[in-house]
Parts: sequence; structure tokens; C-alpha cells
Amino acid sequence: MAVIERIIAKVARGEFARAMRFDGKNSTDLPSPAPGVKRLLYLHIPFCESLCPYCSFHRIPFEDALARAYFKAIRKELILYRDRGYDFAGIYVGGGTPTVLTDELVETLAEARRMFSIGEISVETNPSHLREDRIGLLVDGGVNRLSVGVQSFDDCLLADMGRLDRYGGGALAAERLKNLRGRFETVNADMMFNFPAQTEASIERDLAMLRDLELDQVTYYPLMVSDAARGQVQEMFGALDYEKERSFYLRITEGLTPLYRQATAWCFSRSAAMIDEYIVDYDEYAGLGSGSIGYLGGRCYANTFDIEGYIGEIRSGRLPIMAARGFTVKERMRYDFLMKLFGLSCPVSFFRDKYGLSLLRVLWQDVLAFYLAGGLRYKSGVLGLTLRGRYFWVIMMRQFFTAVNNFRDYCRRGIEV
Ligand SMILES: C[S@@+](CC[C@H](N)C(=O)[O-])C[C@H]1O[C@@H](n2cnc3c(N)ncnc32)[C@H](O)[C@@H]1O
Ligand code: SF4
Repeated sequence: MAVIERIIAKVARGEFARAMRFDGKNSTDLPSPAPGVKRLLYLHIPFCESLCPYCSFHRIPFEDALARAYFKAIRKELILYRDRGYDFAGIYVGGGTPTVLTDELVETLAEARRMFSIGEISVETNPSHLREDRIGLLVDGGVNRLSVGVQSFDDCLLADMGRLDRYGGGALAAERLKNLRGRFETVNADMMFNFPAQTEASIERDLAMLRDLELDQVTYYPLMVSDAARGQVQEMFGALDYEKERSFYLRITEGLTPLYRQATAWCFSRSAAMIDEYIVDYDEYAGLGSGSIGYLGGRCYANTFDIEGYIGEIRSGRLPIMAARGFTVKERMRYDFLMKLFGLSCPVSFFRDKYGLSLLRVLWQDVLAFYLAGGLRYKSGVLGLTLRGRYFWVIMMRQFFTAVNNFRDYCRRGIEV
């Protein structure tokens, strides 16, 4: 890795580790909803039919009875937010695998639509669930964006990832993605790069397939693991190589554009409709469900990771929040700087309008460092990422999600998942 990239990774790592430090002294109540804020409702469904060994998200093996009790609890949690005066413009359901019980999911979405002013609904799923029985329910349930976890179309790699048996091979995933045409406003494929066994030839075949499929959107995540999982992941799959990460990234950006327009540092879109990277689109989001992380009124909070404990709290009419922390204005501006530039550009006036403060005055060191490193350009009041800067932001976001993964590991300690 080039020296500058190493420095960015190191500084970002320290910064995000500090931001994700919760000392338990903070109130775990919700702030009152501020008026005029575009807010997203994030619902976390932690169940999966088979657990992928590289995945650091909050997930547990699927059990029908527990999952049904869980969905019931999440529907009650919606009421707790409504009673506190919250409203939401959109829903993002992530996992885990939200479609494990599609009937329960659709009932939950219907409940949320009755309570809030929902304009759009995004749902994550696996290729094995792309069958008419589930798809029909999702379409009728008002889902307009479907995000499918493909990872790769390469069966050898899928086998190495532990996904081939349960979630199906590349050819089947491609055929099912084709059959989704016209069913949803946006279909996204989640792909991964820099998996240790992944080769350049395999990436090239995946890129050719993605060009052929002409999907609405492709999201290409670099492999990100928590510090605690790193040793085990490297033992199972091989060493992580960040030189390879950079060269794969450059290949991916070349290979997908101009057919796909780059919409964030790692998301490529063909539709004019904006992407479902909710952290860019929305000012703030509520996190519902076990292990969910929310960001409301400048406060970051996490729900308990203990599934039974989560259901128990909700049954008693209590919010299941286990940790919370208020961000200072500078921290909030830094968070917005990260997220807005993840979306490739941002007018500096955004910060003055939101905080009454000048970005260049408060975060001058961050802006200057990225500018001098050749990552940022400034024109007519707008800051934008250069090609070099896009990879810098992949590093930043990788470090951000690694800090989130570390926080998840910390919260899960003592709870066997
Ligand atoms: C958390 S999963 C949820 C949806 C579904 N269960 C799936 O497997 O796609 C969403 C996406 O996160 C990405 N992902 C999971 N683990 C990852 C990791 N360790 N590093 C980077 N991306 C990861 C994968 O691309 C995956 O499709
Ligand atoms: S990658 Fe998806 S299917 Fe695999 S364990 Fe994570 S959430 Fe579950």
C-alpha cells in the first residue's frame, strides 16, 4: 500500500474507533424528533439459513418460532417510535436475511406503511429466495428496491465463501436476476472484491456478466472484517492484501463505467433514481430490531444484540437500547463530510445550512489533507472526489465499517451467536 493510503487507513481507524466508543453513562432514551428532517426507518432481521464465515453482521441461524416472535416484536417496536412522534420517509430492511419469512416481513411493512409517510421500501435478500412465491409477495407488499447478495458469479469462489450449497451458483443467480426485470424500480446486486482467493480473471468474468445483465445498480464491497475476526478469516481464506484491493478497485471502476454511472465510492447505477445507500440519502435513521444501530438527532445508539432479551424488552413496552452516545458538532460535521463525499460530491453550503458553521473553518485539516493528497477538488462551491479520492474513500469507509464491526463484536461479547 502506498504511504499516503497507509496514513489514511491509520488515522481513520483511530478516528472511527473513538467515535464508536460508548461509555454507558449516556441516556438510552430517544431524542425528540426534530421537524423537517428526512428520516429513514432501518429494520434489522438477523436470521440466515446458513452463516457465511466472513460475515461480521449481526446474524444467527434461522429458527421458525423464534423468527416469528421476533417479527412480532419489531412490529411493536414501530409503535414505540410512533408514540414518540417519529415519522419516516423510507424503509430499509437489512440483515441477516430479511426474506427468511416473507409473510411476516410483508405484514411488518404493511404495519409501518399504515403508521408512517413511507415513500420507498428497500429489502435485502439472497439469490436462493428469488422465486415467484416470495417475489410476488414483495411486489404486492410495496417493495420497490431489491438488493440481492450475489458476491460473485464464480462457483469456485462461492464454494470457498461457503455460499454455493445454500445460496446457489452464479449461473442460477444470473438467470434469476434477469427474470426480475421490470418487477422492481431498482434491482441491486451486492458484489465483493478482495476476497483472498479471488483472481483478476475471476473479477473480469464477473464484470463481463454485470455488463451483460444491465442491472439497475451494482454495489461492490471490499472485504471488511472486524479485528477479532481477522485472524480466523485469514486462517480460513488466506491473507488480506490491500495492494490487490486497490488494483481490483480500479479495474472495477473502469470495467463498469460508462455503462454504469458511479454513484458512490463503491456503488454503480444505471437508473436515474437515486441509490439505496441510505447513509448518503437520509439525514438520519432509526435502527429497529436486535443489534440495529441508529443515528437520530446527533445521537448514535445500538439495540441489544441478545435476541431473546430484545423480544423481552419490547414485550415489556421498553425500548431495547443498550448503548448511546451524543456526537459533538465537530463529530457530526465529520460524519456528514464522510457520508456526503462517499456520495462523490457535496456543496460546502450544506454545512453552513445545517450547522451555521463553515466546513473549511471547522474541518480545515481534513479538507486540506485530502486536497494536498490529490483526493479532493473544489469548484464553484462544490467539493468532489477525484479518481484517486474515490479509492481514498473506499479506505475510509472500510475503516468506518471495521469500527462498526468491532463495536458489534464488543456488544456481542457474552452472548453466544
Ligand atoms: C449483510 S448481507 C445481507 C443480505 C444477504 N444475507 C446477503 O448475504 O447478501 C449484505 C451484503 O453485505 C456484504 N458483506 C457481508 N459480509 C461482508 C464483509 N465481511 N465484507 C464486505 N462485505 C460484506 C455482502 O455483499 C452481502 O451481500
Ligand atoms: S452474508 Fe448474508 S447470508 Fe451470509 S451470514 Fe451474512 S447476512 Fe447471512
